[in-house]
Amino acid sequence: MKQIALRGRTYPTDLNHAGTVFGGWIMAKMDKAASIAVEDIVTSTAVTVSVTDLHFLKPVKNGDIFTVYTEVVKIGNTSIQIEVSMMVRCKESHEEYEVTNAVFTFVTVDNEGKSISVESVIRDDIPQEIQRLLKNESI
Ligand SMILES: CC(C)(COP(=O)(O)OP(=O)(O)OC[C@H]1O[C@@H](n2cnc3c(N)ncnc32)[C@H](O)[C@@H]1OP(=O)(O)O)[C@@H](O)C(=O)NCCC(=O)NCCS
Repeated sequence: MKQIALRGRTYPTDLNHAGTVFGGWIMAKMDKAASIAVEDIVTSTAVTVSVTDLHFLKPVKNGDIFTVYTEVVKIGNTSIQIEVSMMVRCKESHEEYEVTNAVFTFVTVDNEGKSISVESVIRDDIPQEIQRLLKNESI
């Protein structure tokens, strides 16, 4: 299930020399959004181990209002994969269009930073589709 993890507006300090928003700024927002989605389902710390399939589809401009959507798509032994998509709201129509998407993988870790099984730190109140992912069932 797709969820809103983060919303905000861009400001002049977020821009690159060409006048559009830095790719690194966008990636940081997506990473933070994904980490919120992970924290919704586990009680431990989780760290980003990889980012793949990163696509910058459209530029983000100064003053744009953005929303980052997340969806948990896979749960492994110690890893959680999240599809992350940043959308921008058109000023005139208020319709959203996608500007960037990527797949973030997190690993659940203990206090020493060692990977631990997702199942051992899963929250009690996770939704049904996450329970199915835990059991490797398709949703
Ligand atoms: C995350 C970390 C603890 C994993 O170490 P590890 O347990 O020895 O790694 P493993 O090779 O056993 O892999 C653990 C899991 O991550 C997955 N993984 C590892 N490298 C991956 C990669 N490049 N892409 C996707 N998944 C990856 C493995 O498939 C495995 O998943 P599974 O248990 O669900 O099957 C370690 O790599 C680390 O500390 N990295 C730095 C994290 C960090 O600082 N991130 C930035 C700030 S949050």
